[in-house]
Amino acid sequence: MLDGADPLLEARPLAPDSRAEFLADVLTGLARPQKEISCKWLYDARGSHLFERICELDEYYPTRTELGIMEAHARAMAALLGPGCALVEYGSGSSIKTRLLLDHLARPAAYVPVDISAPALAAASTRLARVFPTLRVLPVCADFTARLELPLAGIAALRRAVYFPGSTIGNFHKPEVVTFLRGVARQCGPGGGLLIGVDLRKERAVLERAYDDALGVTASFDLNVLVRANRELDANFLCDRFRHEARFDERHGRVEMHLVSTVSQRVVVGGETFRFSEGESIWTESSYKYGMREFATLAALAGWRCEATWTDERAWFSVQYFTSG
Ligand code: TRP
Repeated sequence: MLDGADPLLEARPLAPDSRAEFLADVLTGLARPQKEISCKWLYDARGSHLFERICELDEYYPTRTELGIMEAHARAMAALLGPGCALVEYGSGSSIKTRLLLDHLARPAAYVPVDISAPALAAASTRLARVFPTLRVLPVCADFTARLELPLAGIAALRRAVYFPGSTIGNFHKPEVVTFLRGVARQCGPGGGLLIGVDLRKERAVLERAYDDALGVTASFDLNVLVRANRELDANFLCDRFRHEARFDERHGRVEMHLVSTVSQRVVVGGETFRFSEGESIWTESSYKYGMREFATLAALAGWRCEATWTDERAWFSVQYFTSG
């Protein structure tokens, strides 16, 4: 657990009243013609744990592929980030890939893992602080898509850089990518760095399997948002009346995750009733897949210049490094 007595591991205040926000978000989302629930609510303690299991599935290629790229090129990446860098990681989860970077970074000024799941954040921060005893680990439990104060005011760093692995950027719609990356550039200030994992376009069958595995772990992960709503929002979703579906939408270049109602039914959330017809869905997440250059073009709109890209031999996944002016 976070230990306030350890000067190298300063706990930040944890998530504020996320229940009210969750409720507001679900009520607004379910009132839309295409019902939706934002994917950030998938990551409670059980959700984060299920996601870790997804990362180990045979079908889920992104984690393994990205790890391979990091293993092969972390030294080169760390050299580009340079010495004395304050490294911020969004959606740090278990921080496994980060270790590879930290192994090679010269005198990092601080490591700031940011994650919405307090237990995942605490466990990873403690582990990293143990492995790198001289590193300043400054965890922030927060939603990194919201405005966020970084605990870097008193830290003398030669550069601020954001590490954003896992193709989490793929979970943003394209206009949001630009807004988000502009915010990151602002947060980093002049000479900022961005090292980002971007999943690439590939065959439909590979993509759909990655998001709907044979063991049903992804389905449980997706359905967990309903379990969480029942527990936290007094909702009455019957989880066996929804099924998980992953569809690759070629035109938008994205895998869409939906919870499809298998019957006509009503659900009550926070005192409001929502009707579902048979086959109607709640859209829980999108995962955009990019062409290598396509992503750099989008990032350029937010003021980021592509300095280097790395990929695997099948060109399934990429890690890209950008700097801002
Ligand atoms: N960032 C991950 C991705 O887009 C998140 C993810 C993986 C996910 N599998 C999922 C989200 C299933 C919802 C459902 O690959």
